[in-house]
Amino acid sequence: MMVEISVFAGAGQLAMALADLVAERLRRTPTLVLGLPTGRTPLGFYRQMVRIAREAGADFSRATTFNLDEFLGVGPEEPGSYRQYMERHLFRHINIDRRHIHFLDGAAQDPAAECERYEAEIRAAGGIDLQVLGIGGNGHIGFNEPAGSLVARTHVVRLQLQTRRANASLWGGDVTRVPRRALSMGMATILHARSVVLMATGAEKAACVSAMVDGPLTTRMPASFLQLHPEVHVMLDRAAARGLRRK
Ligand code: PGA
Repeated sequence: MMVEISVFAGAGQLAMALADLVAERLRRTPTLVLGLPTGRTPLGFYRQMVRIAREAGADFSRATTFNLDEFLGVGPEEPGSYRQYMERHLFRHINIDRRHIHFLDGAAQDPAAECERYEAEIRAAGGIDLQVLGIGGNGHIGFNEPAGSLVARTHVVRLQLQTRRANASLWGGDVTRVPRRALSMGMATILHARSVVLMATGAEKAACVSAMVDGPLTTRMPASFLQLHPEVHVMLDRAAARGLRRK
């Protein structure tokens, strides 16, 4: 497989290296179209990205962003929304042109139409240059959960309990408040990005990381489809890399 793997001593070093990588891509291509994740893992990355923007002037003014997913029924102003997560951790702190921020609207009246709108916006932007991803403990990417079949394009998903638990911190630590459904880029939406960087940290990700890299392609491990992508960089800390056959 075409996957490049980097193992870092810790999550802090990984976050710095990923922020440096994005800053470098941004220098080379000021109009970079970035796909962005949420969750716990990217927090360090966003912290470093903000630091680089402040200290080294990383320039987002001509860049465009598309986030992977959003909770269904949740508007962009709601504190638990991914949109607010991104405001808190990145958008508010960088010089991105607000018109270039693209997000799925979880409160859209017609979710199917909203998904189509998002696909059209990605096409109109010329596609995603660099998609940054995390991986769920169950092997999901975006919110493409393990299942008997996977969906190609942006669609409504039902979240697994494990995924809702992982998101409880956005909802006052109360898993019952985490929405049961979400909107997510589909597998093909993600795989069409020109390059992909996936980050994973911690021992609880070791099993899905090794299944993603060394296991069979299976809809039960959506991340395994990244094996088909020509340009994937997997960034891990030592704990997440523990199960890999080659390091
Ligand atoms: P986490 O989520 O970073 O909170 O573990 C990763 C993901 O679900 O993609």
